[in-house]
Formats: sequence, structure tokens, C-alpha cells
Amino acid sequence: SVISYGGGEALCVIVHDISERKRSAERLQRSLDALLGLYEAGQILSSSLQREEIGSRLLEIARHVSNLTAAVISIPDQEEELHIWRSTGLERLWQVRFSPEAVAARRQVLQTRKSQAIRLRPPEDADGEHLVGLNLPLLVRDRLIGVLEAYGPEALMERQNEETLISLANQGASALENARLYADLAERENRLQDLIRKLITAQEEERRKVSYEVHDGLAQTAAGAHQLLQAFARQHPPDSDKGRKDLARVLELVQQTVGEARYVIADLRPTALDDLGLAAAVRLQVEKIRNLGSEVDYEEALGDERLPAEVETALFRVAQEALTNVHKHAPSARVKITLQRLTNCVRLNVRDWGPGFDPEKATDGGGPGERLGLSSMRERVALLGGHLEVYSLPGEGTEVVAEIPTVQKDGKGR
Ligand SMILES: Nc1ncnc2c1ncn2[C@@H]1O[C@H](COP(=O)(O)OP(=O)(O)O)[C@@H](O)[C@H]1O
Ligand SMILES: [Mg+2]
Repeated sequence: SVISYGGGEALCVIVHDISERKRSAERLQRSLDALLGLYEAGQILSSSLQREEIGSRLLEIARHVSNLTAAVISIPDQEEELHIWRSTGLERLWQVRFSPEAVAARRQVLQTRKSQAIRLRPPEDADGEHLVGLNLPLLVRDRLIGVLEAYGPEALMERQNEETLISLANQGASALENARLYADLAERENRLQDLIRKLITAQEEERRKVSYEVHDGLAQTAAGAHQLLQAFARQHPPDSDKGRKDLARVLELVQQTVGEARYVIADLRPTALDDLGLAAAVRLQVEKIRNLGSEVDYEEALGDERLPAEVETALFRVAQEALTNVHKHAPSARVKITLQRLTNCVRLNVRDWGPGFDPEKATDGGGPGERLGLSSMRERVALLGGHLEVYSLPGEGTEVVAEIPTVQKDGKGR
């Protein structure tokens, strides 16, 4: 403005240096970006259990938050040699990353587990900046699982920037470790499932073999002996009371042997299961329990078409175990069994009006080989993608419901 000064006019110019204010505003903006970035990182990193995805996201966020040229996650091998696992923007910095100073800095991180910053490349033009490399340990408790390498402008050396990246590295490290643990667990679970599947198949095969051997050997021979004895007795009837009595006794014993052999077969693996199907095999079990004095209702609506063999076997074993349980733990109870074929699954329902129990406690305790019934039913059904529920309350009876899909997840039939 123009003012009067010493009788004359003068031009007055007031100059404010706003560059400091501008710098403060910029710093504030950067802090805000960093905070937002960290918040976002927390959300994103904890929402995934895929290591690869977490790795890529971590690099993206680091690059964005700290304005990086490139970022790398490297992972040590058995010999503590670092190898690039995931990277972004590295194309132009390939040589710089492998320069002796950069390699030495990374080695330092491995040894000290502390972050290391180095100036890597002089500015390309006069007002350019140095390229800076910041190597941060990815630590899980005190274990180093990798190194986060950040390459960018000089500002990376600033305390605040470094802290932001350290915080990111910490979040990333725990997310990566969680994902690894989860993958390990899933892998172990798979192996366990595989083992159970193999054990069940082997057991089923063994039972089938013994059952057929008893059927074709012992049972047939005993049945043949019974017939021959009867024919022999007709041709040569005993001529004394004692003789007749002895003969009757022998016939009875042989008949009993046939009965016992059939009983063993029915338990091991009824031939009816292979020859006639699930409905018929369950009917035999029902008859067995009826003969032992239980009141059993059996309803079956499976239709004529046979079910896949593995579904038949699994449901037969579940029915067998559930009925054995009724006989063992609810001996005088009324039982109802239903087998239904629904649109996409088969359902087996075994309901009794016995004393009931607390399913939560049912698998506690027990000696070796005891209290395995409910768990093994559950495993068998789960292996085929189905599920099994046990509803029971003391005084209210028990209901076991097993459902196995007949259509696989991809929509195809088994
Ligand atoms: N139908 C049932 N009625 C009453 N109690 C039952 C019934 N089914 C199972 N239980 C209870 O659940 C427990 C676990 O069953 P299970 O796993 O088959 O083992 P186990 O039959 O060898 O005892 C049984 O010991 C019993 O107490
Ligand atoms: Mg049992």
C-alpha cells in the first residue's frame, strides 16, 4: 500500500514467509495420510488369511502411505539367506537393491533384528533427492520371519515416516504369521481327515473280507453239515431214546453254529448291504434288535434306485451304532427309525424314548475303545460332506439325525 512517509509518498510492502506454514500443513497432511493408511492396513491385513494376498496388500499400502518407489518383502531360508518373496516397483531399482551397501544393510537387519536405513543413489539431477532404502524386520515375538524393504525419497529417513513403516511392518508380520498358522492347521486337518478316511476304508475292507470268509466258509460248512446230518438221521434213525436225544442235541448245536455265524456276519458287514442295499440291511438290524425284545418302528422311503456305496455304508454304520446305543443305554425304550430320500440328500433318523443323556458330556472319559460311537458316526458322515446331530436331554429320550448329500457341491451326482 501507499503511505505518506517523511512528507512524501512511499510504497509499503509487507512480506510474510508462509513457507513454514505450508510445510506444517504438508506435514499434517502426511501424518493424516499415514494414520489413515495404518487404520486401513489394520482392517485389510486382518481380513485375509491368504499369505500371498496379505503380502501384496502390505506392499501396496506401504507404497501408498510412504510414497515409495519400490517395496519388497524378502524371506530368509534355512541358511539365513534372504530371497525376494513379493515386490512392487522393483523393475527400475533392481541393480540398486543388489548393490553391496544394500546387501550389507539387509544382512545387518538379519543379525540385529533392528531397522537399517541407507542412502543408495545420488540424485539424478541437481535438485533431486537421494534414493533411500529402509529395511525393517518383520518380527513375530522375537522371531524374524522376513524383511520389509522400502525404497523411496529422502523423507523416509524422517522419524515419523520410519515409525509409520515400523508399525505397518509389525501389523504385516502378525497377519502373515496368523495366515501361516492357519494354513498349517488347515493342512493338518486335511491330513487327519485323509487318515480317518483311509482307516475307515481299511476297516470296512477288513470287515467285508472276514464277513465273506465266514459266510462262504464257516456258515456254509455248518449249514451243509446240518443238512447232511438230517438226511443221515432220516436214513439211519437212531433206535434208542438216548440216540434220538443225542442226535437232536447235535442238530441243535450245528443249527446254533449257523445262527452265530450269521450273527457275526450281520455285525461285521451284512452281505445284504452289498446285495440288497441300505434299506434291507437296516431291516436286518431292526429285526435283530426286535428279537432282543425292543419295540422298533421302521419306515423306509428310499425308492428303488440304489444309493452310492459309500453313502450306504456310512448310513448303515450310523444306524447300526445308534441302534446298538439304544440297546445298550436305553434297553427297554421304544425306537423309531426312518430312512428318507430327499431332493438332494438322504436322511436317517433314529429316535428313542429312553432315559436320554447330556450330549456335551457323552464323549468324556471312557477307556480305550469306549465312547467312540458318537464321534465315529459324526466323522463318517462328515467325510461325505454331510452332518450329524444328536439331540438328547435326560428324561426326554434321544434323536440321532444324519444327512448325507447325494449331490456334490459342484452340482454333480456322486
Ligand atoms: N440312545 C441313547 N440313550 C441314552 N444314552 C445314550 C444313547 N446314545 C448314547 N448315549 C450316551 O452317550 C455316551 C456315548 O455314546 P457312544 O459314543 O456310542 O459310546 P459307548 O456307547 O461306547 O458308551 C454313552 O456312554 C451313553 O451315556
Ligand atoms: Mg455306542
